[in-house]
Amino acid sequence: MCGIVGFTGEDTALPILLDGLRRLEYRGYDSAGVATAASGALHTCKNPGKIAALTAKTETQPLPGGTGIGHTRWATHGGPTEANAHPHFDGDCGIAVVHNGIIENYRELRAALLAEGVCFRSETDSEVLPHLFRKHYRGRLLDAVRAALDEVQGAYALAVICADEPGVLVGARQGSPLVVGIGDGAHYLASDVQPLLPHTRQVIYLGTGELCELTPDTCHLETLAGGVVPLRIETAGQDEAAADKAGYPHFMLKEIHQQPAVLERLLGAYTQDDRVVLPELGGIAEALPAIRRIQIVACGTAWHAGLIGKYLIETFARVPVEVDVASEFRYRNPVLDSDTLVIPVSQSGETADTLEAVRLAKAAGAMVLGVINVPGSSIAREADGLLYLQAGPEIGVASTKAYTAQIMVLALFALQVAALRGMMDAKAVAQHLVEMRGLPGKVQWAIDRAPAIEAIARLPRYAQARNAMFIGRGFNFPSALEGALKLKEISYIHVEGYAAGEMKHGPIALVTDGIPVVCIATQGPVYDKLASNIQEIRARNGHVLSIATEGDAEIAEVSDDVIHVPPCTDAFSPLVVASPLQLFAYYVALALGRDVDQPRNLAKSVTVE
Ligand code: M6R
Repeated sequence: MCGIVGFTGEDTALPILLDGLRRLEYRGYDSAGVATAASGALHTCKNPGKIAALTAKTETQPLPGGTGIGHTRWATHGGPTEANAHPHFDGDCGIAVVHNGIIENYRELRAALLAEGVCFRSETDSEVLPHLFRKHYRGRLLDAVRAALDEVQGAYALAVICADEPGVLVGARQGSPLVVGIGDGAHYLASDVQPLLPHTRQVIYLGTGELCELTPDTCHLETLAGGVVPLRIETAGQDEAAADKAGYPHFMLKEIHQQPAVLERLLGAYTQDDRVVLPELGGIAEALPAIRRIQIVACGTAWHAGLIGKYLIETFARVPVEVDVASEFRYRNPVLDSDTLVIPVSQSGETADTLEAVRLAKAAGAMVLGVINVPGSSIAREADGLLYLQAGPEIGVASTKAYTAQIMVLALFALQVAALRGMMDAKAVAQHLVEMRGLPGKVQWAIDRAPAIEAIARLPRYAQARNAMFIGRGFNFPSALEGALKLKEISYIHVEGYAAGEMKHGPIALVTDGIPVVCIATQGPVYDKLASNIQEIRARNGHVLSIATEGDAEIAEVSDDVIHVPPCTDAFSPLVVASPLQLFAYYVALALGRDVDQPRNLAKSVTVE
């Protein structure tokens, strides 16, 4: 979603702000802007569209000054126009604000400001902020921001500069994340660590309800109530190089190729010889034998991983598991108690609905075990225990390596719960681990078939399809949902995923001449059932693309095309079918000339509900 950068130091702010914005591009945005403070005035440049266009625009109108703010906007209130792009200004253009999140009471605030004679230039909720800050300004920006935020309801991260205080950068956080970077004679502000990493690894994650006042040489933190907050300086762990494409044309392709290494890393981190070892479980480890049920909450791809987690945990550990889309869970008055373990699954750890689900669970007395990729993220901080995905930064909007990492971590967790509850003996755990240690190699095997997958994806019957379907059963029903999501979000083809057994209950009505149906038909207990579903599709002239086990001649005979995967235990097969489905989506999108890493309308981190 929206991204914030801020800088105050001796250097010219503009190039630092633009570089920071480029490093936030992956979050998804549709307009961008910057503002700097110099010589008692503010200077700005805004543009709908990409950072490259904004950069070109600033070349003809360079912005002076060593203090500034920048923003990538993902439109919510008002379209992606120059007027709606941030920064927003007060009436005299003496205060500039960039804002992430939503001001829930902006209508009331706007009406009151209009009644006081304030003129608005945009349709955004954010624009109430600079006008409110001006109203409360008595000579110190920090005090004005704190006083004004007392009137504001909603979730926000914001950065503010003022013409009258040219070396001062103020930040505030209520919900949406904000990180301070401590440099040498400089301070930085950003909505995640990526823009900070070229300059510093010394960071402070602002807590919710906290403000910061930064100058080149000072960093002061306080609460919205005015209490002083001690500086909690941490060292950011993420490798800057991880945000490079490393020679790949897209982050998505790079991240698909990283999957074997990520799985290897997780097995190294979370197993010892023939045991599962999950050191970050904290107090949850002792509670695991007694818990009565598990509730998984997640969104999008992470929800699909959660569905596979249910199959794994129920199969191995025989504990009942419910899986909810977080946006439904938080509003459906779920039954929760201290015997329930709630597992939020999230790459970013910032997804607004998943975070609220965590808060709801904690308020109801449930324990929370986060399955999270981004260290230091909000969910990571609020959970009672953690299982880090260790996938490194995932930049492509389409989640790939975080998904397979989520499945692997949930599989290891399922084995651990099974062992702790006496549902699986040590020998059986060890046997599963032998199989799991073979998975990185199997995933690599599938990725090595990328040229064959590309040739299939570029066939007009797939690349030019207007509609498509994905079907699967058992462990690979969620794989069908995920394959469909991957294809629809980056190709814009209308695609739906179904449990194959549901076809006769409605969806088969959609099967007509030439509609592509991707059938996940790996060897396993439901293979024969899936083979029958394929026959039913062929009988109605659908085009069948099967994801099948290598050497399966039977499926090849009834399919128009086949993508092979290596033989694999049914429970772990979602891991080996994931990369072919990701590659298929990637190559279809490429054939259609889509913006693979930043698909339209989508954001990497969905920090508003
Ligand atoms: O950061 P999270 O894992 O919580 O994000 C959840 C979804 O927003 C995310 O998986 C989304 O569906 C992706 N675009 C899928 O590729």
